[in-house]
Amino acid sequence: MEAIVAVYADWGIGSDGTQPVVLKADRAHFRQVTGNAAVIVGRKTLEDFPGGKPLKGRHNIVVTRQDIQIEGAQVVHSTEEALAAAAEQERCLVIGGASVYRQFFPYLDRVHITKIELTPHSDSFFPDLDSLEDWDCTEQGEWLEEDGLRYCFCTYDKKG
Ligand SMILES: NC(=O)c1ccc[n+]([C@@H]2O[C@H](COP(=O)([O-])OP(=O)(O)OC[C@H]3O[C@@H](n4cnc5c(N)ncnc54)[C@H](OP(=O)(O)O)[C@@H]3O)[C@@H](O)[C@H]2O)c1
Repeated sequence: MEAIVAVYADWGIGSDGTQPVVLKADRAHFRQVTGNAAVIVGRKTLEDFPGGKPLKGRHNIVVTRQDIQIEGAQVVHSTEEALAAAAEQERCLVIGGASVYRQFFPYLDRVHITKIELTPHSDSFFPDLDSLEDWDCTEQGEWLEEDGLRYCFCTYDKKG
């Protein structure tokens, strides 16, 4: 399974339920990489989407322990249920947040990373793939700039 995430220089991914710095180029990259694939998203990250609504034009699998219904989304109540729902989709990406990345990490074999060269305060982190022996950076994009901020798009694959 794949995941997509934007990380700051310390592998922080957010603070107080949101991303302190977001790049327009990263939003476009997210749309391009995820295409019309299904996504697995935690209930808190969903709340941070525009209008708190699921992403349009794709199958949204929302993980929550609550007994709720969400218009435009498939609600699941455990990782196992989410994995079963993902298995029915042609392609599915884990799109966060922190607790969801953590729980699905063992099932990931590819992660699309946007590296943003800045360290705002984060209270949520993604595992530092550069420090993990079983992960390789297989595509290192060139460093680009938006509003004076340097960023690059990378792909990491799990070895074996
Ligand atoms: N940089 C990035 O690319 C990126 C991407 C996405 C998110 N983020 C950041 O990540 C942070 C949010 O992460 P988070 O960990 O607080 O929230 P989250 O993972 O988005 O959502 C957590 C919620 O998901 C549900 N959940 C998680 N595991 C579950 C399980 N096994 N079974 C059932 N429900 C489960 C629970 O919902 P209920 O409380 O409803 O039970 C839980 O409270 C924010 O700062 C956000 O900006 C960053």
